[in-house]
Amino acid sequence: MPSGTVSTSPSRRGVVGAALAVALVATALAVPWAGTARAATPTVVHAADFESGLDGWEARGVASVSTTASGARGTRSLLVTDRVDPWDGALVPATDLFEPGTTYTISLWVRLPDGAGTADLRLSAQRDVAGEPTYETITTIEGVTQQWRQVTGIYTPGPFDTSSFYVESVSSPVPLMIDDVLVTGVQYVPDLSVTPVSDAVSVPFGIAVEPQDVLGGRGDLLAHHAEQITPGNQMKPESIQPSEGTFTFGAADGLVDWAIAHDMRVYGHTLLWHQQTPAWFFQRDGAALTTSAADQALLRARLRTHIEAVADHYRETYGEYGTPGNPIFAFDVVNEVIDENEPDGLRRSEWHRVLGPSYIADAFRYARAAFGPEVQLFINDYNSEYPNKRAPYLRLVTDLLAQGVPVDGVGHQLHVEVGRSISMIEDTITAFEALDVRQAVTELDVSAYRHAGEQWTEPPADRLLEQGYYYRDMFAMLERHASSFESITVWGLEDSRTWLRSGAAPLLFDGALQVKPAYWGIVDPSRIGVTPTPTPTVTPTPTPTPTVTPTPTVTPTPTVTPTPTVTPTPTPTAGASCRVTYTTSDWNTGFTAGVRVTNTGPASLNGWTLTFAFPGGQQVTQGWSATWSQAGPAVTATHAAWNGSLAAGGTVDIGFNGSHTGSNPRPTAFALNGAACTVG
Ligand code: XIL
Repeated sequence: MPSGTVSTSPSRRGVVGAALAVALVATALAVPWAGTARAATPTVVHAADFESGLDGWEARGVASVSTTASGARGTRSLLVTDRVDPWDGALVPATDLFEPGTTYTISLWVRLPDGAGTADLRLSAQRDVAGEPTYETITTIEGVTQQWRQVTGIYTPGPFDTSSFYVESVSSPVPLMIDDVLVTGVQYVPDLSVTPVSDAVSVPFGIAVEPQDVLGGRGDLLAHHAEQITPGNQMKPESIQPSEGTFTFGAADGLVDWAIAHDMRVYGHTLLWHQQTPAWFFQRDGAALTTSAADQALLRARLRTHIEAVADHYRETYGEYGTPGNPIFAFDVVNEVIDENEPDGLRRSEWHRVLGPSYIADAFRYARAAFGPEVQLFINDYNSEYPNKRAPYLRLVTDLLAQGVPVDGVGHQLHVEVGRSISMIEDTITAFEALDVRQAVTELDVSAYRHAGEQWTEPPADRLLEQGYYYRDMFAMLERHASSFESITVWGLEDSRTWLRSGAAPLLFDGALQVKPAYWGIVDPSRIGVTPTPTPTVTPTPTPTPTVTPTPTVTPTPTVTPTPTVTPTPTPTAGASCRVTYTTSDWNTGFTAGVRVTNTGPASLNGWTLTFAFPGGQQVTQGWSATWSQAGPAVTATHAAWNGSLAAGGTVDIGFNGSHTGSNPRPTAFALNGAACTVG
């Protein structure tokens, strides 16, 4: 997920100048610990001020676009009207503007016309490959009103045949206005003279990647530091079998081919999950599968067919597993099947609803039969370090092994934040060392945010140093258990493309592909915080055109989410009827919460936001399956890119880790898109 930033300003800027872009990029590069950056000169690829026309913008979907007097300084702006669905909006065709693998900074101003209320907008991009669209959120702009508001997002497109970027809304299709757009591109060049991370870690070191990560300078960085890759999304069920019997391996194969060309191993992810799995898996003729013997047999057959198709494809394309041409050495067979809030510790997914717990052993047996003995079969989960999750995870793996189920390895995702207890993580690793399994760190990232109440464009320098020390301590601990580990993988190449919220900066390299203290924490802790060379900067700003108001272009201070609401945000067209089940599993100062949201209304929702308030001073420390933010007691969770559409009767599971100070009273009221939900 590309990151973006939002800043507010009482007055809008006048004319667009290249100065803005250069200033933005220079800020992105101005990190004191960066290594030697090769000159990266930003190029303006698109500018629009709508003073004399549409400047290349066009309608998206059924919307209409025109220019309008915008009020401020008598200039004109783009007006987008007649929108019906949230994705109707305004776009710029970018097929000839964007280069895959180049990093773009997109800056524009937005507001709603007078009388149009408030709405959450989104700056997004679309890439089409072989007719298949991919939609990517560049940044979400919460609580847009009649005030002009500047938005800045960073986007690195992957491969495409055609592409565009556009403004849409999260849920309500209100009219909107856009002005002073500036898009600049930079091809960052990494410093390849630094020690490869893989040389500093005795366990094979991997990085989870997206297609753009193998291009240009990003590919050079990846090849320099990693020994193996995990496709971040391309081997998930929705990518490989979007509709029954239609297998699309193209994106995944592109990554596997790149791995072969760079002599790397591939860790497959994932054969079974409750997310990013198409609805058809769990339906017959459009109706939900029941627990009848026939429906159970159908779902089992689908699971087996899917696993066999994946295994056969890679055997046919690259040769038998375990032979030199085929780099796939491990696969996550089941992902995130534990739910410590359930009495038996197993997640109530669609898999579980239809098949009961037996699907887990079946998946491993099908995988062994299909892949053979050379591919190590992993179970994978997050939060495995927390004692209350460790216990059911251990119990499940112990039971599976006792039944002779072919589980070779246990994955610990390790999506953590600075300060999460490393001894707790070590305790989990030690506990699994008693079993006959390999282990892997599968998705490590260390959010710079300690809790959801923090928010910034860039983390403060001292937090990044602390993150460096945290990575040092984490890897020192992992080295003590090196013989137990098959691999250690970080979940993403660089901070601007983390899946976590903007500003989390959880990875080893920054958006300009330069090393961070986190890198030195692994490679040479004595250099955490030591400035190796003077900060590289982009050629100084050309003299600004006099009309440019000296508005700070990148807000240097934390921008706290402007609309943390428990009082429902008025979303005119998207009220919801809903039911929320809130379960927690607590320990002395912390808890894990599962929040199940059901759309009980008659219409499907395209985009949703859940709000509630903590009654007892609790803090969200890290959330998943939604974008979480907190201000005071008020918590807001907005759908993630993959779960925004919620069918009538549909359910989505989201969750978070939280802290409390001794008692953990439950929130009593929840609202979905502003409408109160029934609880329980
Ligand atoms: C994430 C990807 O990184 C995102 O791009 C995608 O939108 C959602 O999934 N646990 C997992 C991974 O097992 O598959 C998830 O990956 C992160 C959490």
